[in-house]
Amino acid sequence: MSASQEALPQINSPKHVINAASTQGRFISFEGTEGVGKTTAIEQLCTHLQDNGIEYLCTREPGGSPFAERLREILLDPATNINDDTELLLLFAARCDHIQQVILPALQAGTWVICDRFTDSTIAYQGYGRAHGDEAVRAKIDALIEQFVPQLPELTLWLDLPVLEGMARANKRSAADRFEQQATEFFTWVHKGFDTLATQYPERMQRIDASGTTDEVSTRIWQAVKESFSLG
Ligand code: TMP
Repeated sequence: MSASQEALPQINSPKHVINAASTQGRFISFEGTEGVGKTTAIEQLCTHLQDNGIEYLCTREPGGSPFAERLREILLDPATNINDDTELLLLFAARCDHIQQVILPALQAGTWVICDRFTDSTIAYQGYGRAHGDEAVRAKIDALIEQFVPQLPELTLWLDLPVLEGMARANKRSAADRFEQQATEFFTWVHKGFDTLATQYPERMQRIDASGTTDEVSTRIWQAVKESFSLG
């Protein structure tokens, strides 16, 4: 079994489901530039969900289904030499499979889906970072989404940290992947993309201050989730 297959999401075993009347799971995405602490933040949110008896599925993009995980390997491999259009198409292919195979079935089963990155990353990284033009990327995303999902994530948590601070954290972690190898200017544009999206969609996209301790960030996130979904 490859490392990427081992990393595939697993549905947790809930003790009980918090809202038996709800048939549709909730869809939450996490966004941010490199090194903002999404992985830890997601783990902590999942602990809260589990403690509240909410069935959830943790997944990620690019990836999240066996086929999309194979594309992720290609997309993140520094040895991959592709142009920006090919990159965008591979991301869409991965997302299409992920939505069909994983996200929609989970939501329909009443499972909450917690996704590490979703379409906002495409607008920020490909639209702003690669300078495709965010409107062009958005039109392609909208066409894809309309076919498969009734809505975007109901709640998107944008973990916001100064770009250089995040990059310094990410550089300490491991060898840089194909995206992490981009110059600071690229990530400054990506950050601008997230900032613009948060301004455009204030209801859906909440900016979370990602500075401070793990517990402080986790508390901010849980507060936002509780308020958004009227949890006790
Ligand atoms: P991550 O799992 O460490 O966040 O790495 C995924 C990388 O893929 C990250 O650098 C952002 C990039 N990415 C895009 O460029 N566009 C996308 O649509 C998605 C989902 C991710």
